[in-house]
Amino acid sequence: MQEYIIKGSNKGVRGSVDISGAKNSCLPLLASSILFKDIVTFKNIPLTTDVLTMAKLLETLGSKVEISEKNKSIKIINKKKHKLIVPYKLVSTMRAGVLTMGALLGRYQKNQIFVAQSGGCSLGDRNINFHISGFKRLGAKYSLKKGYINISAKGGLIGNVFKFPKVSVTGTSNLIMASVFAKGVSYLINISLEPEVLDLINWMNKSGAKIRFKGKRTIKITGVKKLKGGTHEIISDRIEAFSYLCVAVITRGKIKLNNINPKFLTSELQVLKRMGCDIKLKSSSIELNANKKIKPVKIKTGPFPNFATDNMPMLMAVLTKVEGKSEILETIFSNRYMAAGELTRMGASISIKGNKAIIIGKKFLHGAECISSDLRTTFSIILGATAAKGTSRISRIYHGFRGYYNLEKKLKKIGINIKKIS
Ligand code: EPU
Repeated sequence: MQEYIIKGSNKGVRGSVDISGAKNSCLPLLASSILFKDIVTFKNIPLTTDVLTMAKLLETLGSKVEISEKNKSIKIINKKKHKLIVPYKLVSTMRAGVLTMGALLGRYQKNQIFVAQSGGCSLGDRNINFHISGFKRLGAKYSLKKGYINISAKGGLIGNVFKFPKVSVTGTSNLIMASVFAKGVSYLINISLEPEVLDLINWMNKSGAKIRFKGKRTIKITGVKKLKGGTHEIISDRIEAFSYLCVAVITRGKIKLNNINPKFLTSELQVLKRMGCDIKLKSSSIELNANKKIKPVKIKTGPFPNFATDNMPMLMAVLTKVEGKSEILETIFSNRYMAAGELTRMGASISIKGNKAIIIGKKFLHGAECISSDLRTTFSIILGATAAKGTSRISRIYHGFRGYYNLEKKLKKIGINIKKIS
């Protein structure tokens, strides 16, 4: 199995990173292709392993998928009807497989659809009860058979009102995809405003859907008969972008990120400014200079536009090297501090009580052997190892490849001493 060897401490990174397309935008967009009889093409694709798994899932369902790494594009051709069974093998490695449910139900409303239920998750509870309640509001029937969710709307889907009890990102995307062909009008209330969800809404509207905002977190969806194919450029990855900003902060360096809309990171950039970083913004680039005294900080995660839970593990790693006391309050997932144990093995001081982490920043960390347990944990450990004195060895790095394209290539380019071994 592949591992990373990182030699540190790496100080004062310099250079630029080109940010890839957003994985969490790409996955629902690929799932949305199920709704189309025409050809659809997505550009600015990040060829991470989750994206490849979603492409494989679509092929398993019967789509023809053409991937061009050179052009960073994926073309999907649906000549025949899809198979309506989403197998466990593909959903078990990637929870976003659940996004096919809304798209399949949207297009094949009266058929019996079977989607394998994904198992537990390292982040904590990842229920899909909101998705199911929403489908039911549109007239679908649901049952669980031998680990498969069976869903179908015998009489077709009929527009209705659904209020999410709590903001859910994939829940919103799934309900949008299920509603675009539902008869009449649907209202989705308390939706996610994550840029990736807005990307899906833009794409759907561009293709002929009728989705309109009726208030800050409410959309009105008027059912249409068909969507017309076309091409869509995926937005850039705000989580990848923040991850590389953290490399600059933990090494007290300077970095320029290209191909990123700074508006996707408003809360995060405010936090970095409060910590003492100099930040210059243009419409699609961010320059950060952390070559000065960096201060501790208190943050709380939340749905967009708040500080993203996905960006929290990277900030936590940075704070282990910021002298003084910092505090994090995680409000989305019950188990998002997996990196803490590994960072502690490098000498970091992090104490977790419930959903709160208290970090007492140290002058030095030391290299250690670490095991990654999820996507963002991988980058958090990489950050610790980058700043630690001596050698670190990180195993199970395949978690990182699920969401970071060209990971060690981008890190090497800005001067990190990292090597992948098999
Ligand atoms: N929730 C429920 N019931 C539901 C849906 C959600 O109780 O039916 C709860 C969850 O347990 C959680 C909260 O609501 O406590 C928010 O979950 P959400 O549904 O928003 O998460 P998700 O859609 O499954 C997406 C991203 C995650 C990201 C979260 C939060 C994708 C493919 N995944 O997950 O990304 O952490 O939103 O922003 O978009 C990552 O990229 O590393 C990652 C884990």
